[in-house]
Amino acid sequence: MLSIVVGGFFGDEGKGKIVAYLGLADKPDIAVRCGAINAGHTVTYNGRKWKLRIVPSAFISKNTELLIAPGALVRLNVLFREVAETGTKGRLFLDKHTGIIELKHVEKEKADSFLAGKIGSTLQGVGAAMADRVLRKLRLAYEFHELKGMIKDVSDVINDVLDKGGDVIVEGTQGTFLSLYHGTYPYVTSRDTTASAFASEVGIGPKKVDEVIVVFKAFVTRVGSGPLEGELPFEEIVKRGWCEKATVTGRVRRAAPFNVELARKAVVLNSATQAAITKLDILFPEVEGATEWGKLPYKVRKWIEDIENAINTPVTLIGTGEDARHIIDRRRELGFLK
Ligand code: IMP
Ligand code: MG
Repeated sequence: MLSIVVGGFFGDEGKGKIVAYLGLADKPDIAVRCGAINAGHTVTYNGRKWKLRIVPSAFISKNTELLIAPGALVRLNVLFREVAETGTKGRLFLDKHTGIIELKHVEKEKADSFLAGKIGSTLQGVGAAMADRVLRKLRLAYEFHELKGMIKDVSDVINDVLDKGGDVIVEGTQGTFLSLYHGTYPYVTSRDTTASAFASEVGIGPKKVDEVIVVFKAFVTRVGSGPLEGELPFEEIVKRGWCEKATVTGRVRRAAPFNVELARKAVVLNSATQAAITKLDILFPEVEGATEWGKLPYKVRKWIEDIENAINTPVTLIGTGEDARHIIDRRRELGFLK
């Protein structure tokens, strides 16, 4: 079975936590990371916290093979640092066509006042490397000696595992409305960030996709520039306890209440089969650490059910705290697991 996890808003919905949980709960044969190192995914588990920019968030599942998509872009120093921090040497592989971001790409973006000023880019060199890739000038993973022994044909490996009935989880990055095609252009990232794009980044055809899980946070956040409907003043964000700092850049995130219209559009753009909602404990502190749907107060269940009805999609996973295990998993009850 193949599942794709995508962000439903502007990134930072908590995809890392959801994918980490799915790793623990489902122990997939393979977890594959898409996107690039501008996307920070946070995993908290057993009192430890990892801020991952390239290692798949399901790495905490010890027997899961970890892959980096051919459509992904990596910086070697970030990769090697994270592989060491996560102890994943020997079970993490890149595709031969994974793109490599070099120092010149970072320098190019840092000198670009449009990206730094107007767009509020993370300036990690991703867009510049992407542009080089389109121009056929980017160097790919197989050209780097340092990566010897870490290269596989990711598409082949995944399609073989699927043919044998195995489980694969595809970890998308950023959020639907940061998509180069479907987002709030020009305030977007340098790739399409919908489920179809991640299937393509990995090298799997649309008919091989079984589940698309779109991840929302209980409120909407955005870093960098661009429209944010219902944006709250900073004092109000602090008062509500919604103040967050960006994983990669350390910038303070803008925030707004949950946006049902955006969520509905994200469900359509991704053909989502399930939704996840994270940080429910920030809206309702009394649910912190809860793992059972039936034990949630009525008003909290109602809040979720109203969203389910509005987006016409079951909310199968609900985050109630930082740790990867702080999840209400309704997949069995709702018929998604046998
Ligand atoms: P860039 O893709 O790094 O050039 O950034 C373009 C825009 O997308 C900026 O507003 C960034 O803050 C935003 N962005 C890029 N990656 C992420 C992410 O992983 N999470 C949230 N925002 C992101
Ligand atoms: Mg993030």
